[in-house]
Amino acid sequence: PPPLVVAIDGPAAAGKGTVARLLAERLGLAHMDTGLLYRRVAAAALAAGARLDDGPALAALASALPPLERTPEAELRSEAVSQAASKVSALPPVRAALLQAQRDFAASPPPPFRGTVLDGRDVGTVVCPAATAKLFITASPEARARRRLLELQARHSEPNPGPNAAAAGPSGPAPAPAPAPAPSLEGVLAAMRERDERDAARAVAPLAPAADALVLDTTGLGIEQALAAALAHVRARE
Ligand code: C5P
Repeated sequence: PPPLVVAIDGPAAAGKGTVARLLAERLGLAHMDTGLLYRRVAAAALAAGARLDDGPALAALASALPPLERTPEAELRSEAVSQAASKVSALPPVRAALLQAQRDFAASPPPPFRGTVLDGRDVGTVVCPAATAKLFITASPEARARRRLLELQARHSEPNPGPNAAAAGPSGPAPAPAPAPAPSLEGVLAAMRERDERDAARAVAPLAPAADALVLDTTGLGIEQALAAALAHVRARE
């Protein structure tokens, strides 16, 4: 049988990453966070000092991404990378450079998986328009900003060994970088709105629910409830 494909799209911090990961675990499917691809292009562009509007140069970076393990996840999730990702992802050459890897993953799940869950902005509309099941996961901007703030605060209070801690030479570790200022709800909400508006307004593959997606509003839902609704939708289409 053709592999099962679950497409999950939605705005920032709506819970789609969490639902995608748990759904994949429950159903025995492989999971791809497609936003990470755009984040890796953005991080590579920032590291190289590339202009964030240079489509061909950024597409070249996208075609030659360093291995995922080489960039710490915390760096890929930083606010600077989030904003840069939403800028580079608006450029058609960058999207074109990343499209095939996503389609290949969906068409040929890594063994032993019988299918995949992909989450992002355009999985149900562009990457996998023939997906077995599609979900558009959303929540009010305030609920999403609160969740993102909790996530950032948890990360903020973690001891940060810094990228050079493991590689410290005999002279000892490099001095710790100055701690980032504590995030505020207003700041998080404003940054999220800016990114959502850019993602929804772009000409190519804008953030939008597919016509045949189940729209799941998680504003008043806990993780278990959101997961149960998503599972029911997928099982009805398996
Ligand atoms: O999902 P996440 O917030 O990690 O994605 C980071 C950015 O990457 C988004 O704001 C969006 O601009 C871009 N993106 C995209 N298409 C996808 C996934 C992410 O344009 N399928």
